[in-house]
Order: sequence, then C-alpha cells, then structure tokens
Amino acid sequence: MEQMKTNPWTLSVLLLLAGPLGADPDWHVEYPDSFCVVEGSTATIPCSFTHPAGRRVERVVWCTNDEFCRRLVFNVYDSSNVRADRRFRYLGDLVGNCTLKIIKTVKRDTAMYRFLFQANGEGYTGQKGVIVKVTNGEVVKVRSSVTDNVVKEGSQVTLTCTSACSFHQLDVHWYRNGHALSETGPALHLSSLTNNNTGNYTCSLDSSGQKTSAPWSLVVVEDEGRFDWHLTVSVVLKVLWSVFLLLLAGLVFAKRSAPGPEHEIVYSEVVG
Ligand SMILES: *[C@@H]1O[C@H](CO)[C@@H](O)[C@H](O)[C@H]1NC(C)=O
Ligand SMILES: *[C@@H]1O[C@H](CO)[C@@H](O)[C@H](O)[C@H]1NC(C)=O
Repeated sequence: MEQMKTNPWTLSVLLLLAGPLGADPDWHVEYPDSFCVVEGSTATIPCSFTHPAGRRVERVVWCTNDEFCRRLVFNVYDSSNVRADRRFRYLGDLVGNCTLKIIKTVKRDTAMYRFLFQANGEGYTGQKGVIVKVTNGEVVKVRSSVTDNVVKEGSQVTLTCTSACSFHQLDVHWYRNGHALSETGPALHLSSLTNNNTGNYTCSLDSSGQKTSAPWSLVVVEDEGRFDWHLTVSVVLKVLWSVFLLLLAGLVFAKRSAPGPEHEIVYSEVVG
C-alpha cells in the first residue's frame, strides 16, 4: 500500500521534468499567479484543470509550500483523507473544477498553494502554484508621482491608490476633503493644476468608504517662473515705449533746429 502511494508522486516528478507545465495538451491545472485576501475574510481561489482523456480522477489534493504535493501530512485538503481543519473547503469536483475556499483566513494561511489530482494511480501537480497572501486591511495608501506636496500651477500629478491587495482592487474611489470625486480606478490623473485642486486626497477600496487611506495633501502654488516672465515682458515694453518717446522727441527737436528751405535756396544761388 505504501509503495502504491509513493509511485504516483515519483511519476508526477518525471512527468513534470519531461516538459514545462502546459506543454502537454493532455492535462493542465490553471489558477491565478497570486491571490490576496484581507485577514478574517473568506478567500475563494479559482482553479480549473483538465485530466488526460480516458482517465478517471480518483483523488484531489491541495497542499502548501510543497512543489509536488508529496508530503502527506501538510495538505490543506485531501479528498482521500479529509482532515480536521474545516476552514479549507473544496468547492471543485473530480472533473475539471478545483476551486478552493478558505474560510476566515488567518495570517499563517499565507503560502504557496498547489493543486494535485490523481488519475489511474498517477499524480499531476499544477507546479506553478498560486501565492495566497493574507494581509491586514489597514494598508491602503495614496502614492504620488511627485515627492513634494507643493506643486506649481499648470503642472500635473498622478495619485495612485495602493494596498497589499492592490492587484485585485479595480473598484477604487477618490475623495478631496472628504467629498467623492467622479474619477474611479487605481490612478487619479490631475493635470493643468490650479488652486482649486489644492486639498486633502484620500482613496478607498470600496464604495462604502471603509478601508480608506490616510490623506495626501496637495498644495498648488502660483508658478513663480511664469510670474517673472510677465514681469520681464512688461519691463521690456516700458523700455521700448520710453525709447520710442525719446526718438520722437529727438526727431521733433532735430526738425525744428534744421536749416529751413530758404537757406538752401540762398546757398544754391551763391554756388550757381
Ligand atoms: C467551480 O466551482 C465554483 C464553486 O461551485 C463556481 O463558483 C465556479 O464558477 C466553478 N468554476 C467553473 C469554471 O465552472
Ligand atoms: C488637510 O489636512 C491638514 C492636516 O492634515 C489640515 O491642516 C488642513 O486644514 C486640511 N485641509 C482641508 C482643506 O481640509
């Protein structure tokens, strides 16, 4: 009996060494690369598999931190040996669904999970595995594309809402001074900033406003560079105006003191 149990694991190792997972069109196991869950809540890890045609699956196993699910004691679920921890429930079947539910997750559930099915005495492991990460829910943060809270008018800032589970969070809500903004999604793009954009920004991972981040305060100040430019232009204009007036005055003066036409006539008479 012990020998029979050992053989499938050896076979699965050989099978996996023969080629990368998925290269064999006969069978595969599919689950997300990683899965994030807030401590205390329930995680349902989606999983599907196909088994080699003409074979009947007689056993399914979910294990943690074991590349080939070979150890018999640490499996979180084993259809042939249903153990004590009822927090792990197999929602799948023996045909193609290997969904696993973890009820009331605790910090130590964080691990690399793998699924194995046994068909006609051979074990097949989804070797890639799914990383399940259990976090405490207090890590929602606003990150800014600029390090300084004080930015110049006309510039732009992108605020990003992050959390330990951010790769699962698409439903992000934004607030300025506690008032909801129309923009949703993990990134908030603010461009052509004016003083109206000044305020305290927060984001939240659900519409109820729970799991809200600490505020990020944004202060938009007048662009001093642009102010200098205005000043320069007005100074240049004033100087040009003064030069123009001087030239005009000089011209009038020159015209007045210039010899009159009679003198020219007299002069020409003398020459002639
Ligand atoms: C697998 O089973 C779960 C739980 O019953 C279900 O929610 C899920 O839709 C099933 N997946 C597929 C691909 O049928
Ligand atoms: C933003 O927060 C700071 C302190 O965090 C506070 O002093 C300031 O009054 C707040 N601004 C607004 C508009 O609520």
